[in-house]
Amino acid sequence: MQKSRRHFIKSVSMLAATTAMPISAFSFGSKNKLKVALVGTGIRGTSFWGKRLNKNYSKILEFVGLSDINPGRLEYGRKYIGVNCPTFTDFDKMINETKPDLLIVTTKDSTHHEFIIKGLDMGCDVLTEKPLTIDETKAQEIIDAERRSKKNLIVGFNYRWSPYVTKVKELLQNNEIGELRSVDFHWYLNTYHGASYFRRWHGLRQEGGTLWVHKATHHFDLLNWWINSDPSEVFAYGDLEFYGENGPFRGDKCRTCEHKNKCEFYSDITKSKRLMDLYVKNEKYDGYIRDNCLFREEINIYDKMSAQVKYKNNVVLNYSLTTYSPYEGWKVALNGTKGRIEAWLDIPYFTNQSIDQAEKHINEMDQTGKEESEFEPIILHHLWKDFKSVKVPVEKSGHGGGDKRLQDKIFLHKNEEDPYGRAAGLRDGVMSILIGIAARKSIESGDPIKIAELTTMEPRVKRI
Ligand SMILES: NC(=O)c1ccc[n+]([C@@H]2O[C@H](COP(=O)([O-])OP(=O)(O)OC[C@H]3O[C@@H](n4cnc5c(N)ncnc54)[C@H](O)[C@@H]3O)[C@@H](O)[C@H]2O)c1
Repeated sequence: MQKSRRHFIKSVSMLAATTAMPISAFSFGSKNKLKVALVGTGIRGTSFWGKRLNKNYSKILEFVGLSDINPGRLEYGRKYIGVNCPTFTDFDKMINETKPDLLIVTTKDSTHHEFIIKGLDMGCDVLTEKPLTIDETKAQEIIDAERRSKKNLIVGFNYRWSPYVTKVKELLQNNEIGELRSVDFHWYLNTYHGASYFRRWHGLRQEGGTLWVHKATHHFDLLNWWINSDPSEVFAYGDLEFYGENGPFRGDKCRTCEHKNKCEFYSDITKSKRLMDLYVKNEKYDGYIRDNCLFREEINIYDKMSAQVKYKNNVVLNYSLTTYSPYEGWKVALNGTKGRIEAWLDIPYFTNQSIDQAEKHINEMDQTGKEESEFEPIILHHLWKDFKSVKVPVEKSGHGGGDKRLQDKIFLHKNEEDPYGRAAGLRDGVMSILIGIAARKSIESGDPIKIAELTTMEPRVKRI
């Protein structure tokens, strides 16, 4: 049975407006456990959506199936997650045989749409990792699938859930700086984490949609949520000038490279048991090389990116993404009619603590639940007055504490109020990738691109 358009609009606006994470098939507190299946047993699937879920929520959910095209990674993943459920290299077989309530999609980006659409059509609620997908055609297919399905789609936007960025939302929501008019947002990836994207499938636009989509979807989602409006037009510049064919030399892969002694990007994968078990030992099945040369000639994504985005509420955004910065961190400034907010994290010159750039991303991905809390400032500056420094507790592991709060919301506090509207669904997933997709198109054409022309999802003046 087809969902009516009215029903669709209601369910989508409910997603944005309310705080409930819509896992429709499951009644919390009942004796039955939520049946969960996962496709994509790579690093994110096995750690955050696998092992962490099994460890922390096994009273209310159980894994009924795992799927991946790589049988070796699949078997390793099952053991690493710590479950005994069946494994499948055939996705359809998994869904038909295990009939999950919830499907979690953690495959590479270019395949998300395939599993989201099949999952919805086969009667599952679907939770997908970001980005929703990598181009506007696949985005439209997902929009159509959600419209015809009676099930729900959640996009795992974890950044929104970190206390630091939530504080920025709270200040904006409390009208501290009046009507928001413009935003500057700059994100700097360092030569460890930034470089890592060029080592594997993320370096190919047909696999990750370029970092405009793969990485910047996080940033555009935060911005859309803070600005509380949808993007309407995008103009962008971008280039590949540092990695890929620009490198001074290139080799096969780090492990066997003849240039390892002189390459500053040399990374020894053999030192990590986890990466060896997950990737290297399973190369024989699919040829997926985790420590590829980042100077490969096939790399076809941008390594510097800059865009201007106009929102439906007339806010203008200046955005940039750098992939070879000496440090990793970010800065935002939000200008309103009554004042300005400035926020940043991990800028080495603004902190008394030393930051290990090589370890930074590993700590960020850490899911062991280490609670190292510290305070970081947000500057609130009202017109004609002196500035105030608002101290916010921050956590470094699990994406600034966002990872665990996202999962707690989905699995433990489904019906609790969330005054900041952090739960993300189809609309958030679509709008955040459309900015990056429009940026790519703008670079290719030299013209500004209208978001409304990309899919049937109309940008709104007010998100909620
Ligand atoms: N929210 C976050 O902060 C965050 C962090 C890391 C990764 N991610 C997302 O998680 C997803 C997975 O990332 P990763 O780093 O684990 O990648 P990965 O390469 O380690 O894992 C991807 C897995 O998908 C499998 N796969 C690829 N194509 C498939 C297909 N057609 N059918 C079945 N399996 C297939 C691969 O074999 C691999 O095991 C990506 O979409 C990424 O954007 C999100």
